[in-house]
Amino acid sequence: MSQRRKQPDELRSFRWFGPDTHRAFGHRSRMQEMGFAREEFMGKPVIGIVNTWSDTNTCHSHLRDRANEVKRGVMQAGGFPVELPAMSVGEQMTKPTSMMYRNFLAMETEELLRSQPIDGCVLLGGCDKTTPGLLMGAISMGIPAIYLPAGAMLRGHWRGKTLGSGTDVFKLHAERRAGNLSDDDWNSLESGFARSAGTCMVMGTASTMMSLAESLGMTLPGASTIPAVDATHAQMAVRAGMRIVDMVWDDLTPAKILTREAFDNAITVDMALSGSTNAIIHLTAMAGRAGIDLPAERFDEISKRTPVLCNLKPAGTHLMEDFYYAGGLRGLLNRIGDLLNLDCLTVNGRTLGENIAGAEVYDDDVIRTRGNPLSPTGGTAVLRGNLAPDGAIIKPTAAEPRLLKHRGKAVVFESVDDMYARVDDENLDVTADSVLVLKNGGPLGAPGMPEWGQLPIPKKLLRDGVRDMLRISDARMSGTSYGACVLHVCPESAVGGPLAFVRDGDEIEMDVEARTLHLHVSEAELKARREAWQPPPAHYSRGYGSLYIQHVTQADKGADFDFLHAGEPIPEPKIF
Ligand code: FES
Repeated sequence: MSQRRKQPDELRSFRWFGPDTHRAFGHRSRMQEMGFAREEFMGKPVIGIVNTWSDTNTCHSHLRDRANEVKRGVMQAGGFPVELPAMSVGEQMTKPTSMMYRNFLAMETEELLRSQPIDGCVLLGGCDKTTPGLLMGAISMGIPAIYLPAGAMLRGHWRGKTLGSGTDVFKLHAERRAGNLSDDDWNSLESGFARSAGTCMVMGTASTMMSLAESLGMTLPGASTIPAVDATHAQMAVRAGMRIVDMVWDDLTPAKILTREAFDNAITVDMALSGSTNAIIHLTAMAGRAGIDLPAERFDEISKRTPVLCNLKPAGTHLMEDFYYAGGLRGLLNRIGDLLNLDCLTVNGRTLGENIAGAEVYDDDVIRTRGNPLSPTGGTAVLRGNLAPDGAIIKPTAAEPRLLKHRGKAVVFESVDDMYARVDDENLDVTADSVLVLKNGGPLGAPGMPEWGQLPIPKKLLRDGVRDMLRISDARMSGTSYGACVLHVCPESAVGGPLAFVRDGDEIEMDVEARTLHLHVSEAELKARREAWQPPPAHYSRGYGSLYIQHVTQADKGADFDFLHAGEPIPEPKIF
């Protein structure tokens, strides 16, 4: 990039530290109170390291070290680093669901950056919601930003088998429920699954979103596939620290990177990865912050022209560590270069095409060739019909093929409590051809749109060897999950979407190839059910939950808050 570089007195932080005023005197004086010499921070880019480390975020236990490595890089490049802790939103421990707090993290990130003397930022995250949360906040704030992905943990191992987080737990838990795993077997599994710092190591939501952050141009090239505990991960953190300082001088903001073409790239990569279904919601929300409308049809259009080349669980067989050794995301991107907008700018100041030029693939089973894809078309399909007027999605690559065109009788659960109370009842009227339906799993109904969408197969069917059924809900599904699960049914049942009116025994038909989802109930009957329907009571009357249920949008709009979409710029804080 050749453009005029900023001068020190044009830095945002100069408003805090530069003027000869009583207030700026206080800012400088208090920095010196902490032991910083005046010349350390005066006239230098102040880099906020937004760190989602916490003792309860199991995937981010190395991020304190990474923050220090970023600081080293910032200082080497002549900047001044400050660490800003932000809500960690760990997938495992955050209840009722981490999704409820993605928008909280996004707000916190934006306001942390706005309210402090920060010129640019490095965002440290990786566990599912932290990637979109941090990026949404940084997009809205609009100062230069680099995303530093936490990286995936090492492969899981148990009794000679390689295991993937989530995906294999779900499978083994089904065996446990079918009576095929003893207490000892089950307990010994626990220590084999998660062997190091880092995120889940399948192509779940975390790996997908980290890869998409790189595809959007928001990470250094190759950053998203490095295992969390590899020495090159620490080196990448140093380099991110060095680079962000130059980005501040060049005023390389997210708005210059996150174009419509960049989002098309991210969708293309999502499909080639057979990425998590959650990516649709998160990309839609991130694009909304950038002022870009991403209709569900765009995902479907791109899905139809993009082969799945990444052979990782849950759709395939390998894990993130294998992906890294096989050439990683750069290798994959090079294989689909003709499907990408290679002129898109990235955080290192080069184009995506320049960043992936010459990237090699070392294992054609992990990163398939174009002639031998895992699937000839993309990993996610968007369905519409009278059951989902505003859309629903399914990941066909993770479903048993026989279920991709299916008609069956509904077995309806009114809530997750109802489901867990009855699903294993020996008297439940259910067969392998039934369609399991869960209501009240959406943004408002649950609330927070939890990952309830992989409804459990009834125990009596598990014993008969059934391992997949058509399941439909307005909830999400873990990116590590699998099965014929129709998700994100929109509008959700809690706001009176048609899902609310499904009853036991109704016939439901799905045809993935035709992209349809149909409830075989007459219009007159549906009208009568709609008129008799009562909305469920609100879950919260105060606190963050109350703000959430008043402002969260539906899944097709990204489940962001309505007041956080792109709009008029927010004024810089006044400093008197
Ligand atoms: Fe953090 Fe899976 S629990 S990525």
